[in-house]
Amino acid sequence: MTVDADVAKVHAARSAADLVRSGMVVGLGSGSTAALLVRRLGERVATEGLQFTGVPTSVATAELARELGIPLRDLDDVTALDLNIDGADEVDPKYRLIKGRGGALLREKLVACVARRRVTIVSPEKIVERLGAAAPVPVEVSRLGWRHVEQRLKKLGAETAPRRTPTGMLFITDGGNVIVDCHFSNLADPESLEAGLKSVVGVFETGLFLGLCDVLIVGRPDGAEQIVTRAPRWSGCA
Ligand code: A5P
Repeated sequence: MTVDADVAKVHAARSAADLVRSGMVVGLGSGSTAALLVRRLGERVATEGLQFTGVPTSVATAELARELGIPLRDLDDVTALDLNIDGADEVDPKYRLIKGRGGALLREKLVACVARRRVTIVSPEKIVERLGAAAPVPVEVSRLGWRHVEQRLKKLGAETAPRRTPTGMLFITDGGNVIVDCHFSNLADPESLEAGLKSVVGVFETGLFLGLCDVLIVGRPDGAEQIVTRAPRWSGCA
């Protein structure tokens, strides 16, 4: 990550934090850009008396938010979210996303689906012409039988790699599942791929976030650009 990209993430995070108002219920994403958002919101709580409730998308985000004095609720304890703010690994021209490099994709998608407005915060290098050219699609699968699920993913054309920790252990998500990173040589039709992946027994969720970006905030070295996407809502969240 370059210094420019780091500064861009800060600008994107600050711009998104300005959308939060007292009384809101806000989904708090995971990853480095979302962590900057949570830190900025913590500052606003401390200095402006901002009062909102966060719904965290990972254990790491929950821990950080708690340290900063942000009140939290579980997803099942709220009826709806006013806003969800999260990062992404890739964004294409139709505002379709790949997420999950941090391994929190299942909870991230569950929280995003419940939000009235979904805001994605990225630095410019996350904008791509075609999804999957660089980033794999993370697929969260059952720990029991994951090797069999991986074989089924291969049959769908994926070059697969089970996610591992830096010490070579199998990476286990907050929900106790395994992630299989899937490279596809041709990811021209993300909607069909999503449907195909979700039809595999043992697949819990994929990192394809389609129709889940209402506002895109792209940080730049000198500020942030906000784009209202008008992307059609995804039927999976209806
Ligand atoms: C976490 O599981 C991911 O979906 C992140 O939102 C995504 O990987 C972006 O992370 P960074 O903000 O660290 O690039």
